[in-house]
Amino acid sequence: MAAYLDLLQQYSQTALAQLPEPAQQLLLKPVTQKALAAFLALGLVRSVNKSLSQWTLQNWTRNEKWVPARELILLTGGCSGIGKQVMEDLAKTGVRVVILDINEPTFKLPANVFFYRADITSSASIAEVAKTIRSDHGDPTVLVNNAGVGHDGTILDEPEAKIRQTFEVNTISHFLMVKEFLPAMVKANHGHVITIASMASFVALGEMADYCCSKASALAFHESLRQELRYWYNAPNVRTSVVHPMWVRTPMIKMLTDHESHFRQPIMTVQVVSDAICKQILTQTSGQVILPKSQSAASLVRAMPTWMQEGIRTIASGSLRRLREVQKAEEAK
Ligand SMILES: NC(=O)c1ccc[n+]([C@@H]2O[C@H](COP(=O)([O-])OP(=O)(O)OC[C@H]3O[C@@H](n4cnc5c(N)ncnc54)[C@H](O)[C@@H]3O)[C@@H](O)[C@H]2O)c1
Repeated sequence: MAAYLDLLQQYSQTALAQLPEPAQQLLLKPVTQKALAAFLALGLVRSVNKSLSQWTLQNWTRNEKWVPARELILLTGGCSGIGKQVMEDLAKTGVRVVILDINEPTFKLPANVFFYRADITSSASIAEVAKTIRSDHGDPTVLVNNAGVGHDGTILDEPEAKIRQTFEVNTISHFLMVKEFLPAMVKANHGHVITIASMASFVALGEMADYCCSKASALAFHESLRQELRYWYNAPNVRTSVVHPMWVRTPMIKMLTDHESHFRQPIMTVQVVSDAICKQILTQTSGQVILPKSQSAASLVRAMPTWMQEGIRTIASGSLRRLREVQKAEEAK
């Protein structure tokens, strides 16, 4: 270690001697040296912090090599929006993909993609389709709980049936799908469960109470699942990821994209979200991904002072209120 530090000192002195005189003087000033030391220490802390988080998420285990022929990806809601893009991107990598959707695809499926119709809110429907999938392809090794619904309406206005459907599709189905498909992953100590949540897991808006509750639940589901995999099922190599996109241009937010000129928040393409989901799958990396990356601090909102939290929710809800007013004005014409 001492020899290494000596060598480092020699190199830095040689490098320093190459610099112009004023730069040398600036670098030799105690205040500059303190600032440089602080900068280096900060960089070191950041990289140690990142490595600790990553190793913890991977349960201190190494991945086996990703072999597409060994994997079977089960993706819910693969006939539209984000799911469709993920299906197309994964299919290009040569891996087999099974999509489960309540609606039939309206497009031609790639040769390595297989569609099965199922209602993921019904355990009977899932059990029936699971039997066919197992006999046609074997056990899925990756489960992407992507299918979701979103309805407009305040707590007082939204019909009970729609509120229940939001929870059934966005939350309860995760339990049902995992009950059906996780045991094989646990047995093999190999697999990945990906939860598609939302920015709404962190910031609850007006007119979206059921959706926000269902996505906060999806995050809690992911966190509990991680604990159970590690400490209850002894399957530390089964990976878990949760993805929180902000607005994404899909049929789900048609009301919003139809009035985009009045909406002041960024809307992502499905490609941005699919790239992030595929990266988690193909690198077999557990994690929490917030999109767009510029909004990564969203997970801190509930730790902020109350006035700041309310301010953020008010700005976000304000955009929706403005849209609703425009829509009402158009309908009144
Ligand atoms: N679009 C956004 O702005 C946005 C933002 C954040 C998170 N998300 C989440 O991303 C995921 C995908 O949403 P999207 O925007 O692509 O929506 P989408 O409406 O384009 O696609 C949803 C798919 O889920 C399927 N589905 C719905 N109910 C089902 C059921 N009971 N059984 C089986 N399939 C069912 C639909 O048929 C459809 O193919 C959802 O979980 C959604 O909450 C979307």
